[in-house]
Amino acid sequence: MENLGQLYRTHTCGALRSSDTGRDVVLLGWVHRLRDLGSLVFIDIRDRYGITQVVARDDEALVARAKRLRPEMVVAVSGEVAPRSPETVNPKIETGDVEVSLRELRLLSDAKRPPFQIADETPVAEETRLRYRYLDLRRARMQRNLALRHRVAMVTRCYFDQHGFVEIETPILTKSTPEGARDYLVPSRVHPGEFFALPQSPQLFKQLLMIAGFDRYFQIVKCFRDEDLRADRQPEFTQVDVEISFASADLVFSLIEGLMQAIFREIGHEVTLPFRRMSYDEAIARYGSDKPDLRCGMPIEDLSALFADTTFAPFREALAARGVVRGLVVPGAASWSRKQVDDLVAEAQGLGAQGLIWARLSDGEIKTNARAVGESELRAALAAAGADTTGMLVVAAGEPVATSTLLGHLRLSLARRLELFAPDSYEFLWVVDFPLFEWDESEQRHVSMHHPFTSPTEADLARLAEAPGEVRARAYDLVVNGSEIGGGSIRIHDPAVQREIFRVLQISDEEARLRFGFFLDALEYGTPPHGGIALGFDRILAILCGESSIREVIAFPKTAAAVDLMAGAPSPVDRRQLRELHLKTEE
Ligand code: AMO
Repeated sequence: MENLGQLYRTHTCGALRSSDTGRDVVLLGWVHRLRDLGSLVFIDIRDRYGITQVVARDDEALVARAKRLRPEMVVAVSGEVAPRSPETVNPKIETGDVEVSLRELRLLSDAKRPPFQIADETPVAEETRLRYRYLDLRRARMQRNLALRHRVAMVTRCYFDQHGFVEIETPILTKSTPEGARDYLVPSRVHPGEFFALPQSPQLFKQLLMIAGFDRYFQIVKCFRDEDLRADRQPEFTQVDVEISFASADLVFSLIEGLMQAIFREIGHEVTLPFRRMSYDEAIARYGSDKPDLRCGMPIEDLSALFADTTFAPFREALAARGVVRGLVVPGAASWSRKQVDDLVAEAQGLGAQGLIWARLSDGEIKTNARAVGESELRAALAAAGADTTGMLVVAAGEPVATSTLLGHLRLSLARRLELFAPDSYEFLWVVDFPLFEWDESEQRHVSMHHPFTSPTEADLARLAEAPGEVRARAYDLVVNGSEIGGGSIRIHDPAVQREIFRVLQISDEEARLRFGFFLDALEYGTPPHGGIALGFDRILAILCGESSIREVIAFPKTAAAVDLMAGAPSPVDRRQLRELHLKTEE
């Protein structure tokens, strides 16, 4: 191994162009690839800026040393920049017009043979990538993703700074916060039997900051939730957390829309403002989801009125039981084979549908799997749902939410299959007018749909006691391309309303005091009306990077089983440590 000595990097591996011809340069980086042509050795040297070709020729000793290099060794090279001969120009890389004629080579660090090649195109099991994350992160795709993550964080900080926000850190060792997932607990050594909880979000602290007079707060902050993991969930993840005093929902929307515009400019996309808004009820009815993906059309249409007098038993029975008949048009499916149509019906049944009626036109004639519905009704339904001669109407009947949910699943699966999700298209949507509560069957009580500090709408305030299920919340979610990238609300600032909410939630005074006493006390000392939002930073990045999992935009993520394969965490700890923490584990 050699020392760097007085060698200083003159250029990165992504910098050299033909205008640098004749320059003496020093490059430092990793051996990416080696091609040994006998009297000539090509060494591709890589750093996070790119790859430069270095060539050893003429000097026998130098050629012999170059031949002994292996991928991932760290080297310093110096030499002169030369143009490549026309047939060896590589238009795929920015430095592809030039090479460096090697004059001096220093091996700075040896490298074991890596478990996979450091190249984006090499397929590797995710487990191996995560186990050797430091090697995986050398790949261009991960370098690009994390560089964009940094830039988006910078844009976010600048944006909030320019709009008069203050970034304030809130505690990581704290008390359980009310986001509805399980807490990660940290035992206290100095207080036997007592625990901190890691925050599921800074919700109460940001509200306390409003009470404290910091009228515009934001924070890029880690949150911790012990919940079932999916591609878009990690046990520790990052929020862009925001709270504003004297805010209306409209103010929150316009500030966040401006932020999204600034962020999406980082990938060269101009976002159209303002974003669409849709009520929760409409989202569920027309898209079968509270986070509709609006890129693919195919809204669900309610056809119940059309079939009010139907004699077709499945529809008649559904309507009699206060259900609905709903359908959507599958574009281009008029020409599908019978097998394709039958497969769609089978897919619907696999999703729990009793049946799926389809109808389409062929040379002006109605084709359907349910003649009994009646020709004129089917024609009317096709027209009402907006089907042209190329589309096929599919219809389901039953309980309203279940029917739309089923059609919503079919819709997304069809959109994927029919490739209706255009790349580089971003459909933003505010989902508004959420119910304040949902009914929890297992607990037989109402639970908060967002969290218990969400304000009911003023119009519904009076109905809190007698019809809590019908009360709307001043809550909103931000959705893009079917992904929930943010959620927030206008909060309760009146202690009396807060007490009333706890009553509906069947949280006793004692329990409320135990869990949130500090916050309830603070509410009594002059609380400005306030509201805010938290954005899922990792989810936004995954969308910007075109990744389907947030693991691809987090440097050191956990697996779907919530473990860190590289560090080997979680892991057992020694007995002494447990004793100090006053803990015993069960075998
Ligand atoms: P909420 O729970 O909706 O709201 O979270 C806000 C946003 O955070 C993202 N998110 C996650 N991202 C990755 N992994 C997870 N496990 C995960 N959980 C949530 C989502 C979500 O929209 N305190 C409130 C916000 C408020 O009311 O201001 C809150 O945390 O994108």
